[in-house]
This record gives sequence, C-alpha cells and structure tokens, in this order.
Amino acid sequence: MKVDVLLGLQWGDEGKGKIVDVVTPAYQIIARFQGGPNAGHTLIFEGKKHVLHTIPSGIFRKDAINVIGNGVVIDPIILRSEIEKIEAQGITVGANLLISKKAHLILPTHKILDKFSEESKGQHKIGSTLKGIGPTYMDKTGRNGLRMGDTQSPNFKEKYTGLVAKHKKILGNYDYQHLLDETEAQWFEALNFLKKIELVDSEIYINRALAEGKKILAEGAQGTMLDIDFGTYPFVTSSNTVTAGTCTGLGVAPTRIGEVIGIFKAYCTRVGSGPFPTELANEVGAKIREIGHEYGATTGRERRCGWVDLPALKYACMINGATQLAMMKADVLDSFESIYVCTHYEIDGKNIDYFPYDIDGLSIKPVYKELKGWKTDLTKIRKMEDAPAEFLAYITYLEQELNVPITILSVGPDREQTIIRKKS
Ligand code: GDP
Ligand code: IMO
Ligand code: MG
Repeated sequence: MKVDVLLGLQWGDEGKGKIVDVVTPAYQIIARFQGGPNAGHTLIFEGKKHVLHTIPSGIFRKDAINVIGNGVVIDPIILRSEIEKIEAQGITVGANLLISKKAHLILPTHKILDKFSEESKGQHKIGSTLKGIGPTYMDKTGRNGLRMGDTQSPNFKEKYTGLVAKHKKILGNYDYQHLLDETEAQWFEALNFLKKIELVDSEIYINRALAEGKKILAEGAQGTMLDIDFGTYPFVTSSNTVTAGTCTGLGVAPTRIGEVIGIFKAYCTRVGSGPFPTELANEVGAKIREIGHEYGATTGRERRCGWVDLPALKYACMINGATQLAMMKADVLDSFESIYVCTHYEIDGKNIDYFPYDIDGLSIKPVYKELKGWKTDLTKIRKMEDAPAEFLAYITYLEQELNVPITILSVGPDREQTIIRKKS
C-alpha cells in the first residue's frame, strides 16, 4: 500500500480540514506530518463547527486512527484543550490518537521568543501566529529541542530547565517573566493530562500498517507557498509543507507515496505579511472576504483575498507532484459577473509564467484572463450534471492549464456540500 497525501497549494486555509473529514471513511489512518498549532482546520457537519490545530481531521470519524507525526511541533496546552473540546462533544479521545515520541515540544519560552522575534522585526514582521513555531523548529535543527519521548525520561525536568536557561539568555532584558509565570504551571499540567495518549514510534507504526495493507492519508498543514524552502521566503512558516515533508515528517519513503491531492480555493487568500501578486486590496477583495468569511481560524485575523494565480499554482503542482486537485469555495463566487484568473505576470515589460525568486520590491503586474461567472447558487448542487455550463468551463480551463484533474469540488463549508468527480 501507499500513503496518499492531501495538502494546500496556496498560502494555507484552502479547506484541508473539510476535505480530510470528507475522505476519511476511505482510510484507516490519518496522519499529520508537519506544522503545529499555527494550523486551524475547520470541519462542519450536523450543524456544528469544529476547529482542529494539532489533531488530524479524521478524529470525528469512527474507526479512524489519528497520528501526530514526528514532523509536528506540539504545544501541550493547546493539544489538551483540543482533546477536551472533542470529548465535550461525546467523542472519546484515547486509542484513536497516537503521538510520535519524536515530535518536538513547544515550550512556553518558545512562544515568548516568537513574540520577541516578531516585535524586533518591526514593520518587516512575518505576521506569525505567535504559537512558537519558528523558535521550536530552530531548536530542533539546532539540536537543542525537547521531544515528546523526553517526557518519559526521569531527567525531563532537568532537560527542560537547561533549555529554558538558554532561552532566558537570548531574551536578556526583555520583559517576559509575567508571560512565563502565566503559562508554565499550566504547561506541565497539560503534559500530565497527555499521559493518557499513547506515545509511539510513529514511523514504525505507519510502515507496519502499510505492510498490513492499511490505507493511510497524510494531512498537510499550511500551504506550498508557505513552505520553508519553496514558499515566499522569509514570509513562510518553518517546516516543509510540501509532499516531501510527508517523507521526513512521518518516516515514509518516497517510493511509498501514492496519490497527491492538492487543494486550492476558486480564488486565493493569504494571512500575515508577504508577497501576494493577485491580491485585491479593494472592494472586490472585501466582497470575497465577506462572502467567504475569510478570517483566520487560529488568530481571527482578516485574510487578504485575490484571484487565482496560475503561475503560483503550476509551481505548487510541480513541487508536490499533484495527481489530483480539490477546488474549494466556488460558491463564494456565485454572485460574480466575471471571474479572473492570473495567467502570467509582467515584470519590467517581460512576460513571466513562473513564480520569481523574490517579488518583494519588484513591480509585478498580474495579467488576467476573464471568464464568465455562473451566477447560480452552487451550494445545493451535488452532481456535475446539475452544475451550470460556466462553472464547468471554469474547471475545465483550470484543469487544462494545470494539467491535473480536479476530482473534488467543494460548494459550501458542510461535509455534505461536496461534489466528487471521477479521475479521467
Ligand atoms: P484549512 O486550514 O485548509 O483546513 O482551512 P480553514 O479551515 O482554515 O479555512 C477554510 C474555511 O472555509 C473554513 O471556515 C471552512 O469552514 C470554509 N470552507 C471550506 N470549504 C468551503 C466551501 O466550499 N465553501 C465555503 N463557503 N466555505 C468553505
Ligand atoms: P492552515 O494549516 C494560513 C502563516 C502566518 C504567517 C506565516 C508564519 O490552517 O492552513 P508561523 O506561525 O508559522 O510562524 O507563521 O505563516 N500561517 C498560516 N496561514 N494557514 C495556516 O495554517 C498557517 N500557518 C501559518 O499567518 O504569515
Ligand atoms: Mg486554516
């Protein structure tokens, strides 16, 4: 068997949580491979909305095992609160959740360092979610980090104190003590609470499951344009959000990767700072934001909105080796007379059809193709046969340009508001 991968092709918030929840019945194991509580994955079913940050989006489906892989960074306070919220819905979180011993821990001081780093960048700030992601991955690659498995060691407290002492040196005179006092005790209590969740060698668990013929889905967080290597650096997150991240974040060999489902919105959004060539900083962008409720699931911040960007999407399909696509939130464009797709950029009078190295500071003009809007309520449509011709034309155009079939169409936030198409 192979591991299928589902991940974002834009700047995150494409609707990964919804689609993982929709497709989970076809899988036995759902595994997160990178990121941490900077993610906010929304699921809506039976009239209720759920937002997950660390736990894979298969948790609400009976019989699915959810694995938090070694590539993920964990804030025990946030993970505990997620578990408690799910349990308040009458769903037991126990044997259906496993955590890798190798997943790194976000310490209270990592969050303080994140705040300190952003404040010191001033107007050049990344727009981080301030969940401690960057500093935790820095300690991981700097070989200083603490891992979930360390919590089982008798000298865990000593290791913790050693790392905190190092952080305090970096923080110097920064006014942090009250922030630490507010969370440290809660952090240790949360770790104690998490003892009820089994820690595993998740790479062994996953490879054994593959050998036994189990179906596994890897759930990405963030999106390709936020990838540490291939995103709009430095305005990115600190992990590999692309397909390759599945290999390092779960211990799955490249030869074991199966389908790669890339998710994108029928338009485009970005939250936080950084380049966004097709951004609509006008009333059209504001209209998309209002209809699409484009406010962050983790921070509540306004998301910047714009049209679909083909050079960026083509790049993302290439880097990920996407074999299928899911197009989300088409219903948000239901009332638009015309829909625009950026086909290429104009930079210094030259046509560029790929994402350039660094577009910050460049005069970049997105060039658009206009397509006719469908002016139909898509939210009740469940079969492509019932969809308007203009909608089919939009999908067909994107498929031809991207050269990857669109097999899933989402026409509303609810689990049910989904159209599945056959891969031709
Ligand atoms: P994720 O981080 O990729 O899981 O996406 P988020 O949950 O952060 O953001 C996606 C938002 O769009 C959530 O509020 C979803 O409930 C909502 N959503 C997902 N699919 C659709 C859709 O097809 N139509 C509409 N209108 N909303 C959707
Ligand atoms: P999901 O999984 C959208 C953005 C932040 C910021 C940059 C770095 O819900 O799609 P970080 O906290 O990682 O240091 O922030 O990345 N960002 C996201 N944007 N969706 C996300 O996750 C994001 N996770 C981080 O806004 O610009
Ligand atoms: Mg999100």
